[in-house]
Amino acid sequence: MTTNERTETVETVFCALESIPEACRIREPLYQRNILVDGELQPWAGKMRSVHSTIVVGDTHGRFSRVELGAIPDAGADEAFRALDAAEAAYDHGRGAWPTMRVAERIACVEDFTRQIISKRSEVIKLLMWEIGKTLKDSEKEFDRTITYIRDTIDELKKLDNKGAQFQVVEGTIGQIRRSPLGVTLCLGPYNYPMNETFTTLIPALIMGNVVLLKPPRFGVLLYAPMLEAFQSAFPKGVINMLYGNGAELVPALMATGRINVLALIGSSRVADQLKKAHPKSNRLRAVLGLDAKNAAIILPDADLELAVRECVAGSLSFNGQRCTAIKMIFVHRAVADEFVRRFSKAVGVLKCGMPWEDGVAITPLPDPGKCEYLSACIQDAQDHGAVVVNDGGGTVLETLFRPAVLYPVNSLMTVYREEQFGPVVPIAPFDDVEEALDYVVTSDYGQQVSIFGNEPAQIAKVVDALVNQVGRINLNTQCQRGPDAFPFAGRKDSAEGTLSVHDALRAFSIRSMVSAKADTGSKELIKAIVESNTSRFINTDFMF
Ligand code: G3H
Repeated sequence: MTTNERTETVETVFCALESIPEACRIREPLYQRNILVDGELQPWAGKMRSVHSTIVVGDTHGRFSRVELGAIPDAGADEAFRALDAAEAAYDHGRGAWPTMRVAERIACVEDFTRQIISKRSEVIKLLMWEIGKTLKDSEKEFDRTITYIRDTIDELKKLDNKGAQFQVVEGTIGQIRRSPLGVTLCLGPYNYPMNETFTTLIPALIMGNVVLLKPPRFGVLLYAPMLEAFQSAFPKGVINMLYGNGAELVPALMATGRINVLALIGSSRVADQLKKAHPKSNRLRAVLGLDAKNAAIILPDADLELAVRECVAGSLSFNGQRCTAIKMIFVHRAVADEFVRRFSKAVGVLKCGMPWEDGVAITPLPDPGKCEYLSACIQDAQDHGAVVVNDGGGTVLETLFRPAVLYPVNSLMTVYREEQFGPVVPIAPFDDVEEALDYVVTSDYGQQVSIFGNEPAQIAKVVDALVNQVGRINLNTQCQRGPDAFPFAGRKDSAEGTLSVHDALRAFSIRSMVSAKADTGSKELIKAIVESNTSRFINTDFMF
């Protein structure tokens, strides 16, 4: 029996209701009995789906159970199609109020929305902690980063639109080129960043003039409830509509109508593939996808091990390894493998496991009900093929809390070698020749990022050149990550479609349209008259500051 198994119990890791800090407690369950469709919070009298926390709490009798946080509508196909009708009506073939609105006015709506949700900050952060177990610090970061993302998007759109305010004359042809919306956008966000990643597609989609059907993630759904009034009051009717219910049924049915113009999905490549195929006219569908990843870290023999350990612990275990950008496989040169594994497992051993609001907590409960069983099966499979859990207490399960497990030496026979574990299991494999690690990346189904640790310029240059056409980003002596949001977030193979960044997302959710004419006197006078009369939303030279 390990130290942790001896000392940790449900009572010591989870807590009783009265010991939860006042500001973090959930006072009343939140029953959301309406659905935002066609600009109205329409009352919902049908079936409800309970939302339970990932955290178990002890009652006065010392019994521990998941807290009921509230419930959401368990709506069906009728409501989903009503939402689609409302979105289409609002878009009105691109002639609706929203897609034709001046950019400055659309920006004003988004600013109004932002102001309103800022007042809901503490409610949203609290729900992030309870619904998905994200630490208080990271929940605050998720909210604040989203607000920054919205503001940066607004600034970027001003620049983009100001560029479109000019006319160009090329080879005797006058042109005014602007970016225009694409139509009905179906936004599906992930449970690990239920607010931030959803908003990184939702906001650019909206602000470019598209209309949206928004399906909140499986976990992290209730945190949308405090924001519904802001959605309702800040945007014209039908511009944003919510979907609730069984996504596995509703979403393919919506796609099969052929009336979805943009699929924005942060999720699995398997689902993305099925949804794209469900659309009858694939040429009419734009897909903006953030998908699976199995990012590798490669530790070269001359790496600064202290730094490599620090970055790999953060990279593999921040938010319990539930980041698409997490380091999910570590290759370490055999010359330093034992020392790296020793230091790495020591660093993992001091990570504090506990509740999201505790100071210094790193490992928190997992929201996905089947996750602990899945991770335990991965460990068993790795052990069956010769790996060992090298850290004390690694893989111990207490209710929804899974103590991180460091597996070594991992080989290609093990599930965890190729499968995206998306949780706190860290596989480490030794290598003798760097080609083995490069080959792993080349033969992977995924191509999001890698991290390389080392200092010898010629060796780093060789590895970079070998991998730069395999992944979207190579990180030198640092963990994999998405930010800063001004940088492109992309992936190859089954990891992504399209590029997201503050700037790129505006492009992803729009298409260039242009008005052109021969550069003769008649055309020039006509265009000048339209600009001076300020009667067109498209042909104008309005400049935004
Ligand atoms: O889960 C994927 C997120 O976009 C990762 O973002 O690298 O900033 O944690 P992050």
